[in-house]
Amino acid sequence: MRDFYPEDMAIRNHIFQVWHNSARLHGFLNYDSCVVENLSLLKRKAGEEITEQIYSFIDKSNRELALRPEMTPTLARMLIARQNSMQFPAKWYTIAQCFRYERMSKGRKREHFQWNLDIAGEPSTSAEAEIIAAAITAMRALGLTAGDIKVRINSRALMAELLIKHGIQQEHTASVFMAIDKYGKIPEPEIVKMLTAACLSEEGIKAVFEIMKINSIDAAKSAAGDESPAMRAIIEIWGAISTYGLTDFIEFDMSVVRGLGYYTGIVFECYDIKKEHRAIFGGGRYDNLISDLGGNKIPCVGMGFGDVVIAELLAEKGLLPTGSAPALVAVGCMDKPSMSLAIEIAVMFRNNGESVDLALAPEKPKNFFSRCSSAGFDRAVYIGPDDVKSRKIRIKDLKTRQETELSL
Ligand code: HAM
Repeated sequence: MRDFYPEDMAIRNHIFQVWHNSARLHGFLNYDSCVVENLSLLKRKAGEEITEQIYSFIDKSNRELALRPEMTPTLARMLIARQNSMQFPAKWYTIAQCFRYERMSKGRKREHFQWNLDIAGEPSTSAEAEIIAAAITAMRALGLTAGDIKVRINSRALMAELLIKHGIQQEHTASVFMAIDKYGKIPEPEIVKMLTAACLSEEGIKAVFEIMKINSIDAAKSAAGDESPAMRAIIEIWGAISTYGLTDFIEFDMSVVRGLGYYTGIVFECYDIKKEHRAIFGGGRYDNLISDLGGNKIPCVGMGFGDVVIAELLAEKGLLPTGSAPALVAVGCMDKPSMSLAIEIAVMFRNNGESVDLALAPEKPKNFFSRCSSAGFDRAVYIGPDDVKSRKIRIKDLKTRQETELSL
């Protein structure tokens, strides 16, 4: 698990602030929940990696509990509890601490924070477009451009249509998706093994690899046909994203299917342009999760954006905030009798809303001022016995080196 030293917190706070602000700019309401969930809510049968990675335990009342690996089942549980009294569509966001027992690697840790944006109750593709636009707003606020990252978009519905066209029945699509999710991540023979285990014939496996060769919307259109509802949804999203002015940020990518079983339609993942890092964020439409968990049929779209990969990418590009000072003003003093005036001045600044680092013990002027310049304070006030007598202080601007006198 992770320790956050002050310099790590500066990075985390910077990212969180951008997430909060981008969610607010797009009209999402903030929600939260406990990291401990019922294991039964989080566990699914589909053979997903995430199910194997759950930290679970039994409490003193013999309940099977877990640290959540993701927020989506919890969100579904919360929506179900209020489904008959709340307004839909609902746009909600959270920054959730999540735990996964993963093999630790670049971009993947056992604990991460995940910004989740979800829209519940909107069947049209305007929900996908708004979620993708909000995530791109955050990317831009962090200093990244369309030259740095791309959101790769595909549709599970389109994949399912194409698989059926090639004679691969719907009952096999879930396991085919799990195999395709590994495309480009593991050697092809491994994928063939997974497809064989999903009961696909040699011809079926060949068809899957043919589908994976589709590399543009036009190629997808000619494979699926103009009347395909899944294709229409993709074209609608491209139209909306272009109206947002964000076309440069998106790309069509047949290999994106996502590793979570609940997605039903559009799916997307964001990567750095060279694909050197793991996915920065990922999400999609999940229209059946809420009804599968015993709720009404509420169509949903959402995404999760972790703090780990983005911090690595920002560091690489020199876009992380550099160490920030603990306060704006430093107040120090020469000896014990000067301490009272130092406190008085700190109180005066603080009452004025300015943050103050008050020295906790007297120190020599040389030590005080060299500490001030390395910590990055804006201004400094140093009190000696003469200042106590005259009740006049000098506020030093540490950038311009100019002093302003103030009579108390
Ligand atoms: P996910 O793709 O499993 O989706 O995770 C979303 C993002 O969380 C990833 O793209 C990555 O940034 C981050 N992430 C996941 N696991 C780790 C890890 N072990 N270490 C560091 N970062 C990680 C979900 O979790 C879905 N529930 C997202 C969603 C919300 N779909 C609809 N609504």
